[in-house]
Amino acid sequence: PLPTPVIAIDGPSASGKGTVAALVAQALGFHYLDSGSLYRLTALAALRAGIALDDEARVAALAASLPAAFVGGEILLGGEPATEAIRREECSAGASRVAALPAVRAALLERQRAYRQAPGLVADGRDMGSVVFPDAALKVFLTATAEERANRRHKQLIEKGMSANISTLLQDLQERDARDAARSVAPLQKCADAELLDTTQMSIEQAVQAVLTWYRARAA
Ligand code: CDP
Ligand code: CDP
Repeated sequence: PLPTPVIAIDGPSASGKGTVAALVAQALGFHYLDSGSLYRLTALAALRAGIALDDEARVAALAASLPAAFVGGEILLGGEPATEAIRREECSAGASRVAALPAVRAALLERQRAYRQAPGLVADGRDMGSVVFPDAALKVFLTATAEERANRRHKQLIEKGMSANISTLLQDLQERDARDAARSVAPLQKCADAELLDTTQMSIEQAVQAVLTWYRARAA
């Protein structure tokens, strides 16, 4: 039997990975994994427990037994709502710090692979194509210029009624991208066998169609 197909979508912060991945999954009737949420939840759990974000052994132990549940669009940590908290800047920066620790990445590996279930999976993150699902049927590196990504994040926050400053957002995401690309384990980078999708001038719908077209060409 053929292995359960995976579409791996990796790329920098606020490039639109999550939005595009969720819509592709919906179009194909596939499961969807937001791998970044696991790193965000690990950071939140450490912050709540008062564990230093560079204490590799203790943070990895937290990641291995993360009491997280995904219930109808809401994310719970230890039974408490965490959907909003994990999107705050301290969790974004914290996620990128704990994600640089090899033991934390190892602790989350099997948990991510467990999402690979029939009829298929769309997974977004930084190392979906390089490490977690190297045999993915389709790998996409989704990107946009840093300015466009900061604008998208800004719009997203304003729409949620939150305050935001574009130059601070731009600085935060450039710092995080630099840390994600420079780390020694699973750095953010385009795999040689990944399709490059620069969405700077593309709508969400155009990006979704591009991914579906590549996937259908491979599945045929
Ligand atoms: O998951 P990631 O951080 O890469 O990005 P996202 O949260 O999916 O997308 C960030 C924002 O950009 C969302 O509000 C999307 O609706 C928006 N977006 C866009 O305006 N144009 C695109 N082509 C893709 C996403
Ligand atoms: O939505 P955005 O792209 O800003 O971030 P995210 O996908 O939720 O990921 C948050 C952080 O987790 C990233 O900055 C990475 O450091 C880390 N991450 C990772 O290392 N590997 C993944 N597969 C997903 C996220």
